Amino acid sequence: MTVHLVGAGPGDPELLTVKALSLLQSADVVVFDRLVSAEILGLACATAELIDVGKRPGTSHTQELINDLLISLGQQHSVVVRIKGGDPFVFGRGGEEAEALARAGVAYTIVPGISSAFAVPAAAGIPVTHRLVSRAVTVVTGHCAQGSQSVDWRAHARTDSTLVILMGTERLATIATELMAGGLEASTPVAIVHNGTRDKQQVLRIQLHEAVFIRAHAPSVIVIGAVADLDLRDPLQLAQLVNAQ
Ligand SMILES: C[S@@+](CC[C@H](N)C(=O)[O-])C[C@H]1O[C@@H](n2cnc3c(N)ncnc32)[C@H](O)[C@@H]1O
Repeated sequence: MTVHLVGAGPGDPELLTVKALSLLQSADVVVFDRLVSAEILGLACATAELIDVGKRPGTSHTQELINDLLISLGQQHSVVVRIKGGDPFVFGRGGEEAEALARAGVAYTIVPGISSAFAVPAAAGIPVTHRLVSRAVTVVTGHCAQGSQSVDWRAHARTDSTLVILMGTERLATIATELMAGGLEASTPVAIVHNGTRDKQQVLRIQLHEAVFIRAHAPSVIVIGAVADLDLRDPLQLAQLVNAQ
């Protein structure tokens, strides 16, 4: 009797790990989040019970209820797959679920997934680090839990690191304004990648000052920094970069 905390990757079913696929195929129960696509759920064992615990307006799935559900399922079934978008430990609250299971004495495993923080920019041709362009990358949430300390965007403006922002669409105007107030150039490239690695992937490339007026939609990964101008899917751009080095 084990609960497996599994990362589903960024959306494209082919970006599931082999381990995630084999667990889905042997699952008695699959407990899934909003970002896990129907295509991925379709890979689960035909007899598996599928339970949607996606948090969205109008639902009552608090994290505590989800923890209790996992404990109870883990006490009844031999293979419980708790699957989440990306990696379970990157802004996924997988750590809290592991803690709750450990406290209750329920066996669990952790199956890492490909995080959207890196895979979604890559799918849009953006390397989050690139020789001579960016030597560091910082992954930040644009959404802070109530009562927690908010992100110091002005400090991030001074780090000379590519910024990758998850859950940042609603606060994009504030984030851009704060970054500019912290000294980041108004002309800094920004890429907003919506539905990355999925059929409906969209990429918007703008400058930081324009981000104040943009209405972005979730799920999107926002990349801020010189690399956001790159599209290495484009052989012409790639050739220019190689010649410049
Ligand atoms: C609650 S966080 C979960 C992150 C996840 N654990 C991971 O490692 O990718 C959800 C956020 O991830 C980002 N995200 C996840 N999948 C995405 C996708 N396919 N395209 C764009 N953004 C995505 C968005 O910023 C979204 O708001």
